[in-house]
Amino acid sequence: MKPRIVVARPIFPQVLDKLSHSFEVSANQSDTPWSSASWTAALATCQGALTTGADPINASVLAACPGLRICANMAVGYNNFDVPAMTAAQVVATNTPDVLTETTADFGFALMMATARRMAESEHFLRAGRWTQWRYDLFAGAEVHGSTLGILGMGRIGQAIARRGAHGFGMKVIYHNRSRLNEATEAELRATWVPKPELFAQADHVVLVLPYSPAVHHTVGVAELGLMKPTATLVNIARGGIVDENALIAALRERRISAAGLDVFEGEPQVNPGLLALDNVVLTPHIASATTATRLKMAHLAADNLIAFFQTGRALTPLNEVAP
Ligand code: DGY
Repeated sequence: MKPRIVVARPIFPQVLDKLSHSFEVSANQSDTPWSSASWTAALATCQGALTTGADPINASVLAACPGLRICANMAVGYNNFDVPAMTAAQVVATNTPDVLTETTADFGFALMMATARRMAESEHFLRAGRWTQWRYDLFAGAEVHGSTLGILGMGRIGQAIARRGAHGFGMKVIYHNRSRLNEATEAELRATWVPKPELFAQADHVVLVLPYSPAVHHTVGVAELGLMKPTATLVNIARGGIVDENALIAALRERRISAAGLDVFEGEPQVNPGLLALDNVVLTPHIASATTATRLKMAHLAADNLIAFFQTGRALTPLNEVAP
C-alpha cells in the first residue's frame, strides 16, 4: 500500500506525476484554496503533505490528524508551521532552503530599484496617456549606486542581496541581525553590522529579509519608520507581519519616507486598500522566488523530502528531529 499524501495547492504536473509513483495523492489543483475545514479534513486521511507557506500546521490541525508523519513546505520560510507542536506530535517538518536564494535576492534587488526609481508609478502614468513632455524632474527618484543599503536579516538571502549591492552597485552595506557574521564573511560582503536604530537612520534603502515569527511581529512600526530619512525607501520580501502596514501607509501618505516596495502583506492575498490608494508603493503578489526554474526546484525538493522520508526514514532538509 502506498502512503497517502495531500498536495495543498496547484503544483507542476510533472511533480504531481513523480509523487504519484510513490504515493496515493489527493491534490487541490483548482484556483480556489481549500477552506480550513476542508484542508484539515483532507490532511486527516494522510501520512504526508506538500504544503505552501499559506497552509497552517498547528496544534489544532495536528490534533485532527493523528496519522500525519511529515509536512514538506514548498518555501524556505515556515512560519505556517508550529514546529514545536509538530515535534511534540512526531511530525517531521521540512522546507526548501538554498534553491531559491539567488532568485529571491535578484527580486529583492529589483524591487528596491523599482521602488527607488519609481518604475511602477511612471509606467502607470505613461499607460494612462499622461506623458506630454520630457521634464527635468519627471519621476526623479533616489540614487541606488553609491547609496547606503540597510539589510535587516542577514541569512542566505540577505547576504546574496548584500553581495549585489556592494560588488555590483558600489553601495555601502550595513546590516542588522541577531548574530553577527564572522569577520571573513563581513569582509567578503563588504558589510558592517550596526544596531537596529542606526540601520533605519542611516540607510537610503532598507530591505527586510528576516524570517517571521511572533517575536518579530511589527518589527517595523511607527518608531522605526520615524527614524528613516524622508528620502529613504523600504522593501519587504520577508513576511507581511514584519511591518505594521497602517504605520507604513501613514508614513508613505505623509511622505515621511519616500517610497516602499512590498512583495508580502499582513493579510495576503488581501491587500490593505490604504496601500492600493498610494502612488509611492510598488506592490507585487509574493513572487520573489517565482522564476519557473526556481519554483520547479522548490517543488522537486519538497517532493523529494516526502519520497526520501517514506523510503529511508530521513528527510533531506528537516527542520526538526523526530524519533523514528
Ligand atoms: C519562501 O520560500 O518562503 C517564499 O516566501 C515563498 O513562500
